[in-house]
Amino acid sequence: MAVRTTKISAIDLFCGVGGLSYGLQEAGIDVVAGIDIDPTCDYPYRTNVRAPFYKEDVCELDADALAALWPKDSVRLLAGCAPCQPFSSYRRGADTSQEAQWPLVDEVRRLVEDTKPEIVTMENVPRIGSTPIFKAFVAKLREIGYSVHFESCYCPAYGVPQHRRRMVLVASLLGEIRVPKGEVASTDYVTVQQVIRDLSPLGHGEADPSDRLHKSRTLTPVNLERIRSSTPGGTWQDWREDLRAPCHRRSSGSTFRNVYARMAWDEPSPTITTLSYNYGAGRFGHPEQDRAITLREAAILQSFPRHYEFVAPEDPVQFAPLGRLIGNAVPPQLAKAVGQAIVNHVEATGGRVTKARRRTTVPPKSDVPSLQSSRDRVG
Ligand SMILES: C[S@@+](CC[C@H](N)C(=O)[O-])C[C@H]1O[C@@H](n2cnc3c(N)ncnc32)[C@H](O)[C@@H]1O
Repeated sequence: MAVRTTKISAIDLFCGVGGLSYGLQEAGIDVVAGIDIDPTCDYPYRTNVRAPFYKEDVCELDADALAALWPKDSVRLLAGCAPCQPFSSYRRGADTSQEAQWPLVDEVRRLVEDTKPEIVTMENVPRIGSTPIFKAFVAKLREIGYSVHFESCYCPAYGVPQHRRRMVLVASLLGEIRVPKGEVASTDYVTVQQVIRDLSPLGHGEADPSDRLHKSRTLTPVNLERIRSSTPGGTWQDWREDLRAPCHRRSSGSTFRNVYARMAWDEPSPTITTLSYNYGAGRFGHPEQDRAITLREAAILQSFPRHYEFVAPEDPVQFAPLGRLIGNAVPPQLAKAVGQAIVNHVEATGGRVTKARRRTTVPPKSDVPSLQSSRDRVG
């Protein structure tokens, strides 16, 4: 018997630690799988999103194996936040290091063409919008019947306490779809103060015994002097001459105003990059304490909930890999807004007519099968 469904099931390609998946779930979308080539995403993804994680190279994914992950009685959503650089410079045995940027967008296009999910979404840096590979992606989606809309989204308008701009694309086979508008007025942007002021105070190089992620990097003596001379929202131009780096002394420094600087309490933070734990790599100094922000503070400024787990209890907390995972994530709060727009769209269009009903269960790690075709399977 035909059944109309508005239940949405998502597969998240390039899922990382699950920023996008977590936000989609908050919007009421059932996330059935996350796929990423980086094994360190396994623990945070399964622990927080509570969906199966597949450690796979998206370039090697078999479309039929992928399609089998969606329950039959649902509207299928494929999310593909392709990174701007391939994770590895080698793919299918070929050196890809000289390729144009975003070759992985083509892999998302291949999987969309082969599986035809009702809804597609993608998040990326705004400059992707002017690239030939993105334009070709949009043209192909339209050619095969999708309504497509994309927009550069300013994260504070979506409740993220961070000045970050991201390109969001949504596409649908069900009818016209739009990227949601951010509804938070500039007078109501969430500030640094509102989200991190009450965390335990720390010195540089210290960690909170009750939260291993609330850990700040050790500063060199000169950087400690520099941060002591910095004011919230100020620049290195406030320092004594002898504290300035040689490059600062040489140039007007106009392009470097936002390094070795403290955040301001009363506005959203600067963009949280993969190096946000590093005082010299941006405006990543704590507004008051003499240290860079901790990994937990970076995650909170990305709008992850405070309890989000990024590393297994038996594994060490390392700045570089965790900073990369946190800085690369889609802010869950932005993802939630996109998810809500997708839910509203599916309800407004009446969803999908299906014939069969099948339930799936979340398999434990050991049950997760390979998603590569047997021809391509490696290892
Ligand atoms: C921008 S991050 C994704 C962030 C994630 N969507 C989130 O919200 O947390 C890009 C991810 O793509 C993964 N990646 C890069 N190349 C890949 C490939 N060939 N196959 C699968 N994953 C890949 C990286 O490991 C990284 O986690």
